[in-house]
Amino acid sequence: MKIAIIGTGNLGVSIAKGLIFSNAFTTLYLTKRDLDDIQELSEYSKVTLTSDNVEAIKNSDILIFAVQPTQFERILTEIKDELTDKHVLISTVTGFMIPRMEEVIGKDHFIIRSMPNTAIAVGKSMTCLCSNEIGQKRIKIAEAIFNRLGTSIIIPENKMQAATVICASGVAFWMRLIRATTQGAVQLGFDAKDAQELSMQTCLGAASLLIESGKHPEEEIDKVTTPRGCTIEGLNEMEHNGLSSSLIKGIQASFKKINNISDQ
Ligand SMILES: NC(=O)c1ccc[n+]([C@@H]2O[C@H](COP(=O)([O-])OP(=O)(O)OC[C@H]3O[C@@H](n4cnc5c(N)ncnc54)[C@H](OP(=O)(O)O)[C@@H]3O)[C@@H](O)[C@H]2O)c1
Repeated sequence: MKIAIIGTGNLGVSIAKGLIFSNAFTTLYLTKRDLDDIQELSEYSKVTLTSDNVEAIKNSDILIFAVQPTQFERILTEIKDELTDKHVLISTVTGFMIPRMEEVIGKDHFIIRSMPNTAIAVGKSMTCLCSNEIGQKRIKIAEAIFNRLGTSIIIPENKMQAATVICASGVAFWMRLIRATTQGAVQLGFDAKDAQELSMQTCLGAASLLIESGKHPEEEIDKVTTPRGCTIEGLNEMEHNGLSSSLIKGIQASFKKINNISDQ
């Protein structure tokens, strides 16, 4: 695959490193206006750094756009005459809908939108993908790329805002749960470092149990809740204080906010 990343900032660098370490390309062009802070990436073979988006696009088939929403329309306008039927456009740009991209470059290009999360930096992103009609023919290419950087699923575009809350904001929600259980562990006598290790690894183990077994969380909860035992005592106390309810309400509040932002 001949890949270009247009806008190699935080996310672009994470994607580039994932592609480099999994040897997933024949050539990789990385663009940004100021190349100083990505010079280290030029040491890898078959990687070219350039400030010239047109050069990158002419030499690549898969174009991954990782620029800020305010920069995107101008860049699409700048490169639209260079696009041919070999190109597959993959946008990571938050809130920039496919119809808006089509308004600039036309409907006859393969367009895919992706919503990764920050865990892409460690190859564990939950990435949601959607495409325009013609893009369905190439969406497997995006799946292959993002499956090297974590896990991906294909969803309709009208669920991308909801996916942003669950997967991108979701990283912050889970961080807060890890912090809270760490604080609880400190109160039970562990030093802060051990407390965080216990909390993080237990979180990872719980998620891995579900991922590998395909079971419902309640089945795993049943295994650790002895009747009249300490786990059900703690769990019920958390629920009396609104654990599940507050998480669901928080998710709804985030969703309402993201929809308000996109309406503005
Ligand atoms: N970070 C995440 O985990 C994450 C997750 C999901 C979605 N997103 C979305 O991904 C996009 C990028 O996020 P980010 O955090 O990586 O932003 P960022 O760090 O600001 O990166 C954007 C990059 O684009 C470059 N750029 C600006 N104008 C350019 C141009 N004309 N040509 C080429 N490059 C240009 C900038 O470098 P120069 O100024 O040097 O050109 C900058 O390095 C955003 O739309 C964000 O909403 C991010």
